[in-house]
Amino acid sequence: MIEVQNVGQIFRSRGKGGQTVEALRDITLNIPEGQFVAVIGRSGCGKSTLLRLIAGLLQPTSGQIVVGGTRVTEPRKDVSMMFQRPALLPWRSALDNVLLPIEVFGWKRSEHQQRAIDLLNMVGLNNFHRRLPHELSGGMQQRVALCRALIQQPRVMLMDEPFSALDALSREEISAELQRIHKELSATTVFVTHSIQEAVLLADKVVVLTSHPGRIRQIIEVNIPQPRSLGFGAHLAEVSQVMAELHELLLSHPQEQLPGGYPGQHQGPGQGPGPQQGPYQGAPPGQQVPQQQVPQQQVPQQQVPQQQVPQQQVPHQQMPPQQYGTPPGHAAPFAGHQ
Ligand SMILES: Nc1ncnc2c1ncn2[C@@H]1O[C@H](COP(=O)(O)OP(=O)(O)OP(=O)(O)O)[C@@H](O)[C@H]1O
Ligand SMILES: [Mg+2]
Repeated sequence: MIEVQNVGQIFRSRGKGGQTVEALRDITLNIPEGQFVAVIGRSGCGKSTLLRLIAGLLQPTSGQIVVGGTRVTEPRKDVSMMFQRPALLPWRSALDNVLLPIEVFGWKRSEHQQRAIDLLNMVGLNNFHRRLPHELSGGMQQRVALCRALIQQPRVMLMDEPFSALDALSREEISAELQRIHKELSATTVFVTHSIQEAVLLADKVVVLTSHPGRIRQIIEVNIPQPRSLGFGAHLAEVSQVMAELHELLLSHPQEQLPGGYPGQHQGPGQGPGPQQGPYQGAPPGQQVPQQQVPQQQVPQQQVPQQQVPQQQVPHQQMPPQQYGTPPGHAAPFAGHQ
């Protein structure tokens, strides 16, 4: 479903003699349809860059990305993205916020209203359809943002640390909901997180990135039945085992042990032992580790009609007021002072 093929991303700062930052190098990753993949790594290792590339918001400096058999060259309607902050329009109700992408795409609101209501009910917001964002808690707002990302029935969901602003309990609760929703809707999902726990609770597969430049250090398959939780009798032992393995991987100074040498060192293609041969090669002696390194798989390509402009392409600050509503008491907020 999603094929990331030898992707590299180098950013150049503007101006003469601008410095370059190699954010990602030689990323190859195949994500089959319906799979839930978590991407984890230190701050600045290129996680958001990878999501932006898959979303078509950025073109890679090398390699290519294919989604549903089509090379990604621009944003598309069957791919939706969810960010760390809910970014709801403050003057629109929860329901109207969920329906925003429908209006942006020019689809008929009446045909999607019931689905928006069902989604809000599904995330436990039955009595909050008409509430404004400021009347909702942070967790509720993020649930509304989740519904907004789901309203277009995306085949691919890209989530960039969507729950990181929430308190630990809300985060666990909404993670449980996401497990259930993913089972029901089975959109192929790439979920960026800093949280080892979140990655293990949610993902079929965890991709661990190294830093400077971001490379795939290891891919760990999580073969633990869903639903997973940290509660008693919910596969706690297996969850802890994988969490320990990820912890080890993330804290073992990956920069010093990268194949090819020191951080940022350029290396030609095909050199070095490859991204999945980090120093952590398996279980400590005497321990059983159920996860294995995953061989790169070839997924059958499917044709998906090219579509355009997912919801995040229209940041609310840029929306024309006549189309998306005007904040009460602000007659012409976008028209400047007159
Ligand atoms: N538009 C840009 N221009 C220049 N450099 C950029 C740009 N976007 C990202 N970078 C650089 O690329 C690297 C990776 O950034 P990215 O935002 O992808 O990291 P991240 O893993 O998402 O970090 P965090 O966990 O803090 O969100 C960083 O060094 C960053 O400074
Ligand atoms: Mg980021």
